[in-house]
Amino acid sequence: MKQRTVFLTGLRANNNLHIGNYLGGIMPIVNMANSDNDSQINLFVPDLHSIISDYDTSKLQTAIFDNIKNSIAAGLPLSKDNVYIYRQSYIPAHSELTWILDCFSGFGELSRMIEFKEKSEKAGKSNVGVGLFNYPVLMASDILLYDTNYVPVGDDQRQHLEFARSIANKFNSKFGEIFVIPKSTKEHDSNFERDQALRIKDLQDPSKKMSKSTESEKGVIFLNDKPDIARAKIMSATTDSIGTINYDQDKQPGISNLFDIMQYFSNKSHDEIVSKYKGSTKYAEFKSDVADVVCQFLIQFQKNMANIDNQEIIDKLEFSEAEMNKQANKKLLSVQKAIGLR
Ligand code: ADP
Ligand code: TRP
Repeated sequence: MKQRTVFLTGLRANNNLHIGNYLGGIMPIVNMANSDNDSQINLFVPDLHSIISDYDTSKLQTAIFDNIKNSIAAGLPLSKDNVYIYRQSYIPAHSELTWILDCFSGFGELSRMIEFKEKSEKAGKSNVGVGLFNYPVLMASDILLYDTNYVPVGDDQRQHLEFARSIANKFNSKFGEIFVIPKSTKEHDSNFERDQALRIKDLQDPSKKMSKSTESEKGVIFLNDKPDIARAKIMSATTDSIGTINYDQDKQPGISNLFDIMQYFSNKSHDEIVSKYKGSTKYAEFKSDVADVVCQFLIQFQKNMANIDNQEIIDKLEFSEAEMNKQANKKLLSVQKAIGLR
């Protein structure tokens, strides 16, 4: 029997999600879930990843549920049988496989992970927990337990996906074909019809990615921002002094970022949007049009958020977590057997 294709992604529940998370992480898998009845769609909350950096214990449960609600407001069809939502910590096999993979992961390879390097430099090496270092191994377990083929993530997470592929290959060549190797970067891009993974930039500093762990919120549009706040952020986005609108990521990164945002929120092609504004000198008019598109999205999204039935989430979590424990335990047992633990 042909194995079904598995799509899987997770978004950490630390802070409010922003439009970069939506476009890079949520939207591709939600579109897939709506159009594909045959594949398995796993959208989970990596709650064990959420405790890596400082957080407020009294707010974590709310953050986990809000995280799930964001996906539902984005259109995740809970009623479909091939769609699963679950919390990582409810499936102990994730932690168990992490320890096993740890024993086959290179210290050097993990030290080269950009996210670890950036975050540990910022905090100072001695202030950083081992969890931050080990983060990609847990992420590899999340992926490999379910024979995942596609992992829609933004550009910043691509290196971790490569790590999952590499550890799976290493393990298979030592112990036999235990893990399905997730598709390559190129296969991801062609499957999601993008020429590269998405990287929405900070509106104030377009050399950085839009991130929830940023110091200033002025450059980040959160999914729960009131539309007039979002509009003000877009109107004050950093652009350039060239004076003419053009799509040029090197010379005009701010404008190009706004083009990307507009494109992904409207159902239009890159060329159609760029040709409409290219050559214009009216930056404010362009920004205002971008704001219109984003606000229209936010209004609908927030309306959806307000209409979610919590009981439906709880029922779906219970159903999914039971099924995912079965799948994950089966894979874990084959790993334990292969390495001589069973
Ligand atoms: P953050 O940096 O805001 O903490 P996460 O690391 O939790 O975001 O990322 C959650 C998902 O959203 C991942 O798939 C990640 O690749 C994607 N993502 C985060 N920021 C962006 C962005 N600026 N552009 C595109 N995708 C993004
Ligand atoms: N590391 C991802 C992030 O920061 C979250 C994540 C954890 C994830 N495990 C995953 C994403 C597995 C995709 C697949 O956003």
